[in-house]
Amino acid sequence: MTRSEELQKLHEYQNSICECKLKETAIQPVFGDGNPDAKIVFIGEAPGKKEDETGKPFVGAAGKFLAEMLASIGMERKDIYITNIVKYRPPNNRDPEDHEKRECAAWLYAELSFIKPDVVIFLGRHSMTYFLPELKISDAHGKLVHRKIPNLPTEYFFPLYHPAAALYNGGMRATLLDDFGKIPKVLEKIKETRK
Ligand code: URA
Repeated sequence: MTRSEELQKLHEYQNSICECKLKETAIQPVFGDGNPDAKIVFIGEAPGKKEDETGKPFVGAAGKFLAEMLASIGMERKDIYITNIVKYRPPNNRDPEDHEKRECAAWLYAELSFIKPDVVIFLGRHSMTYFLPELKISDAHGKLVHRKIPNLPTEYFFPLYHPAAALYNGGMRATLLDDFGKIPKVLEKIKETRK
């Protein structure tokens, strides 16, 4: 089996055991997508309408913006892996609740353990505060966090504003673009510390 096929099996298994009730209202689960050997894993919040319809994460407006930002640092979707903390669309795109994040968390841990990225990039406060509850996204964005978190394969975390929140907010958009530009240096810095 290839790594992609193994990852597909992991998703199918986790979907079959996940007890999140959003399963009942969503059209389908939205599995993480991208390179199973990626050095960067992005974690968003939860699927929206487009993602629910297609079964792929970040395919709507936020995903388009993300693709533009990736291009700005010479990367493409195929270079990274992207997933959400909650795998099923919450009704009317409401915020995911804490218990929904907890119910989907084993799945996320399994994906991360499989991919073993150098860095996890949180897209917005929902995924960040699940792992780093004391942080505020307004202070933490664009700063590399070094932290040992049990059962996670990396100690490096880089929080960013969520692209959907920044899309139509001029100030936040500029900040997100600026923070995104720091990603190549962040990767270099992590590589240096491993030498
Ligand atoms: N926003 C998210 O957080 N995730 C998606 O997959 C799409 C939009």
